[in-house]
Amino acid sequence: MIHKITLYTATLILAAAMMTSCTTDPNSPGVEYMPDMYRSPAVEAYVDYGEDPYYVTEEVAAAQRRTMSARKPVAGSIAFKGDDKAFGLPHAYANTTEGYELAGAELKSPLTTTASNIEAGAANFELMCTHCHGLEGKGDGAISRNGHIMGIPDFSSKLKELPEGKMYHTLMYGKGLMGSHASQISQKGLWQIIQYVQVLQKGGQMPTFDANGVALVTETENND
Ligand code: HEC
Repeated sequence: MIHKITLYTATLILAAAMMTSCTTDPNSPGVEYMPDMYRSPAVEAYVDYGEDPYYVTEEVAAAQRRTMSARKPVAGSIAFKGDDKAFGLPHAYANTTEGYELAGAELKSPLTTTASNIEAGAANFELMCTHCHGLEGKGDGAISRNGHIMGIPDFSSKLKELPEGKMYHTLMYGKGLMGSHASQISQKGLWQIIQYVQVLQKGGQMPTFDANGVALVTETENND
């Protein structure tokens, strides 16, 4: 008797399931009894989906979709776009004579020459470089005067024509008795110091600036 009732019940449930599953519409997915298994949400990066709209209202879910979920990059991340991208990339020239020459020929400052950059460079030069190079870059800093490091070249005579790429290369790796400054000063800071060294190369003569403090490029510089 029990068996018969069980059989009837099972048959009825099966029939009900089969009848509700069938539909004449070929595009109908049929009865979805676990919809979130069939339809996964189309997730896009940087969007907070939060709750599943099947469980909260679409209104709540839509509000969550409009909320940014991404966090700021961790400290030390290398920028690959934006204003500072040029200062995040590694120095691309090897620490060899060929690398030095190549940097001199190819490497150009990503920083526009401005009054404020030169000013920032001058401040750092005074802190980091004067004890060897001297305040005016003549190679007569305290360490030179007391005889510890002799023959530091004068920027405005011997190094008058030194290109900025070579300066940067030397600041990165060091040269002779000068050590590397790559770990003490940021890349932007190095290019700012170089702008000041370029002023010293001209015997301390500042460039002419426009109303915004941007250096005007002279005819001769334009032609090279
Ligand atoms: C310990 C002393 C010392 C310090 C500090 C120092 N320099 Fe030098 N620098 C030298 C010496 C010595 C040379 C010559 C290197 C050679 O040609 O062998 C030199 C050379 C240079 C050159 C010419 C590089 C080339 O490619 O010929 C530049 C430019 C320069 N220094 C800039 C700087 C700047 C900018 C700073 C500060 C951030 C600095 N130096 C700090 C000692 C120093």
